[in-house]
Amino acid sequence: MLSIGALNPIPLDTSWISRALQLSAEAGWNQTADDWKVFFAHGKVLGITRDDRLLATSAVLPYGGDFAWLSMVLVTAEWRRRGLATRVVAACTSVLRESGKAALLDAAPDATEIYAKLGFVPLCRMERWEGRGGGVANTSEAVDLALDRAAFGAERRFLLDDFLARPGSLAFRSLGGFALLRRGSVASHVGPIVADAAQGSALTTAAIGAASGRVYVDVLDGGRCLVPTLSSLSFLPQRRFTRMALGLSHFQGDPSRLLAAAGPEFG
Ligand SMILES: CC(C)(COP(=O)(O)OP(=O)(O)OC[C@H]1O[C@@H](n2cnc3c(N)ncnc32)[C@H](O)[C@@H]1OP(=O)(O)O)[C@@H](O)C(=O)NCCC(=O)NCCS
Repeated sequence: MLSIGALNPIPLDTSWISRALQLSAEAGWNQTADDWKVFFAHGKVLGITRDDRLLATSAVLPYGGDFAWLSMVLVTAEWRRRGLATRVVAACTSVLRESGKAALLDAAPDATEIYAKLGFVPLCRMERWEGRGGGVANTSEAVDLALDRAAFGAERRFLLDDFLARPGSLAFRSLGGFALLRRGSVASHVGPIVADAAQGSALTTAAIGAASGRVYVDVLDGGRCLVPTLSSLSFLPQRRFTRMALGLSHFQGDPSRLLAAAGPEFG
């Protein structure tokens, strides 16, 4: 077995996007090239490479001054269980520590131990629900994206604007809330959903009705009020995540209004 001794994480530039996309596709993930571009444009992507091959990645996306989202932790199948994920995540946490930022992430079950060993602590859970869209043509509504800041706990307007600029994206408005719908490489994604419990159900129904094919909704603890709606639309729970933090003891936003996430890669 080849030693990983000399395989150190390096910063990647955009010339690696197609290989990064291959890595996320290999894992069956939903990211598109546009998603990867967000990390290159607004954050930092670290990778472990060998010759011209991308073996592992991890990325950080700063949100405001206090914390960054850490995600895209991927290792190509034949190189797993040799410590590459641990190495590339540790490099990301070092980058954040140097800039005085805390780290937040949504951990898949297989990776929870990696983050726990690096000091991350669980904050809450997230459950991905999957179903099918209604395929009803709809138009985007004018929404107040500024509502996201109080619910999420940091400014990430650049991300939501990026989602909405993509072909096929739609926004839905309720009194004091909104939901976004965007296309992924595997399924359409409904989220974030920012609303109170009373408005969340109508927003979710509208966004799912306008989607086509497979649809994901990443329901946070604060969004359990959506479960009856999702069940009534024949959605089923597909996988679970643990939202974890390093350097933060509690979620900074208003968890009661952040019903569904923008995705595990974006928070
Ligand atoms: C999860 C993943 C990133 C792990 O990469 P890796 O390089 O194999 O991880 P490491 O070798 O650094 O593992 C460190 C520890 O994490 C735990 N771990 C890693 N993979 C695991 C798995 N499949 N099941 C259970 N525990 C696992 C173990 O405790 C492991 O230590 P050990 O090998 O001494 O038992 C990789 O399997 C992967 O890319 N999976 C698909 C994408 C994914 O789920 N990414 C995580 C998103 S949060």
